[in-house]
Amino acid sequence: MFNVPILSSITITISLLYLLISTPPKSYYHSLFLSDSLLSNNTSIENHLFTLTKRPHIAGSQANAEAAQYVVSTLTCYNIPSHVRSYDVLLSYPLSRTLVLTPPLPYSPIVFNLKQEVYKDDPYANVADQVTDTFHAYAKSGDITGQVVYVNYGSIEDYEVLEQMGVNVTGAIALARYGRIYRGDIVENAYHARAVGILVFTDRIDYGGGGGHAKWFPEEKWMPPCGVQVGTVFNGAGDPTTPGWPSTGGCERLSDDEVEKGGDVPLIPSLPISWADGYEIMKFIGGEVANDDWQGGKDAPVYRIGPGPGIINLNYKGEQVIRTIENVIGVIEGAEEPDRYVILGNHRDAWTFGAVDPNSGTAALLEVARRLDELQMKGWKPRRTIIICNWDAEEYGLVGSTEWVEENRELLSSRVVAYLNVDCAVKGAGFQPFATPQLDELLIGSAKQVQDPDNASQTIYQSWIANDKNPAIGRLGGAGSDYAAFVQHIGIPGADVSFGQGYPVYHSMYDDFIWMKKFGDPLFRRHAAVASLWGLMALQLADNEILPFNYLSYAYELQKCAGDLKDELINNEVIILTPLFESIEKFKKAASKVDQEKKEMEASKSNSMSWKVREINDRLMMTERAFTDGEGLPGRPWSKHLIYAPSKHDDYGSNAFPGINDAIENAKIINSTETWQSVQHEVWRVSRAITHASLVLNGALT
Ligand SMILES: *[C@@H]1O[C@H](CO)[C@@H](O)[C@H](O)[C@H]1NC(C)=O
Ligand SMILES: *[C@@H]1O[C@H](CO)[C@@H](O)[C@H](O)[C@H]1NC(C)=O
Ligand SMILES: *[C@@H]1O[C@H](CO)[C@@H](O)[C@H](O)[C@H]1NC(C)=O
Ligand SMILES: *[C@@H]1O[C@H](CO)[C@@H](O)[C@H](O)[C@H]1NC(C)=O
Repeated sequence: MFNVPILSSITITISLLYLLISTPPKSYYHSLFLSDSLLSNNTSIENHLFTLTKRPHIAGSQANAEAAQYVVSTLTCYNIPSHVRSYDVLLSYPLSRTLVLTPPLPYSPIVFNLKQEVYKDDPYANVADQVTDTFHAYAKSGDITGQVVYVNYGSIEDYEVLEQMGVNVTGAIALARYGRIYRGDIVENAYHARAVGILVFTDRIDYGGGGGHAKWFPEEKWMPPCGVQVGTVFNGAGDPTTPGWPSTGGCERLSDDEVEKGGDVPLIPSLPISWADGYEIMKFIGGEVANDDWQGGKDAPVYRIGPGPGIINLNYKGEQVIRTIENVIGVIEGAEEPDRYVILGNHRDAWTFGAVDPNSGTAALLEVARRLDELQMKGWKPRRTIIICNWDAEEYGLVGSTEWVEENRELLSSRVVAYLNVDCAVKGAGFQPFATPQLDELLIGSAKQVQDPDNASQTIYQSWIANDKNPAIGRLGGAGSDYAAFVQHIGIPGADVSFGQGYPVYHSMYDDFIWMKKFGDPLFRRHAAVASLWGLMALQLADNEILPFNYLSYAYELQKCAGDLKDELINNEVIILTPLFESIEKFKKAASKVDQEKKEMEASKSNSMSWKVREINDRLMMTERAFTDGEGLPGRPWSKHLIYAPSKHDDYGSNAFPGINDAIENAKIINSTETWQSVQHEVWRVSRAITHASLVLNGALT
């Protein structure tokens, strides 16, 4: 049903031929993996998603432990041996919340009910009471009162605008809207602006169809008036009490005080609220009218800056408790190189029902597992080991994947070929790929083999380039999902794919199966397409004799980023970028050389060369590791990758050379000899890392 029909008939013909001869080549199985008539099944994907999302399953809950058992038993049923690796980690839940707005007289105080309502014919009404109250995970408890100040998206730039307007945020309660930066940074920025607390609402202009729109879920895909985006406001990765080491039984833990001093947990209370509540508060903010690009949609009240006259009282009490989380790990052992790993990962825990986030990805993961089982039954064995991971507590701060990577760090860094992540498999239409650049070619090649789920007469690749001649591949510099520990902490090549960009009911109670069935992917074809692409990439990484990595793409990408940096520093006469450009030149030469060797080896096809194959593969595998540095980024020792990491003021941001950029940002503010010297130091560090990488690629001692 999903592949290009010609492929099927070729596949069948080849398959008949191979019945007559001996073992088919791996490529035969790879096309079999894509063939719908034989393997793809959207009904079974739909069934998995339906089962996984029957009730809310937040990390640390009984419901999520049951979901883990479902994944284990499904993998077992697909003949993939699997086990649970659990950790005891610090999670956070709401105990009580009250929010009161005191408008100026003659209006009387408004007590918000802070409830997401069940909708008409809601099939999940009977389990709605299992949805966790809306909150920010790890928010600070407190009882605070202050005048409201509107701070737009709560970015550093927004506070600069407020300062220019002469608005004093000190002692106020900020009202921000979601949408531009990571919510943990929204809270942190408010703290630095000296607000005593912050409310964050889901503005209708961004999540409700732009306003002037009378309908929402379940009639349309938009966020209902009472919908709230829950989420974490933790700015680190992994269990906050075990930074850098695994949360195994009886391990060392930081005290509450030490966690606070670590700087990654918020220091002021915060609460997410709905657009209806956001509008209500906005009506009682006076003062100057905000700029046009700070305003809401058509039906929104006029947004003013304040402070006040409306006064907010927020009383939030949360509990932070150690709970058990469970990663499910399934292993298909490699026949020839069992000590080389290709890892597929997706998380399972959800803020509510999790139909989009993350169980569309879990359903796709189980579909990959099902098809791999079919291949095994037809005689296929992977050359390298394929590991299927289903993470827990991603929503709290990438906790499950981070603890596992921290626990297995050395084995992973010496053995993992690549990590392929899918968080939400489907949010809507449109292919959204991310990768470290040596995987670009593999990603593009794979997209050329999988049918576009929304147009049977073209491939994913064709729809992808329809709008954009050079297919855009995002990079993995943000900390948005479980690839972070693999890529940014230990330097493993990674990719992340999905369909659709933002979706309006994100992290709300309305992210349920009905939303997916009505709006996200009615025929489950996009899910099937993600499974096809994800599995096909894994198969090539696991089976190809020589790893399908192309470092020339990496060299071009580095050149591009260095060019951007040069443009940024155009008026600066102090910083010398020559070492950076020279290191990239060296890297490019090494990439061409290894590419040539690869081609020669593929042409020679001699088994006596197998040690040589292993040698070149090890160079290809280890090159990415050289981009990491033991010390990590300044002030952020866990982030060790010097090319890709989040930017300091937006955890979602995906900058190249984060250390250099942070240093520039700092130098621009302080503008001293010392701060510009540290920019130069960061340039040197990145140049050394790139030089290291080219030495690994070359595979020769100096
Ligand atoms: C697809 O999956 C469903 C449910 O798992 C199963 O009943 C059906 O037989 C499958 N169809 C094919 C063609 O394999
Ligand atoms: C802002 O307000 C606080 C407290 O009301 C005050 O201490 C501070 O000096 C004010 N800052 C400015 C820049 O006016
Ligand atoms: C479907 O793909 C074909 C081939 O690329 C293209 O000509 C056609 O316009 C596409 N249809 C739609 C509705 O996008
Ligand atoms: C699976 O896809 C086919 C067409 O590609 C569609 O007719 C069918 O309804 C889909 N099944 C489900 C369960 O969505």
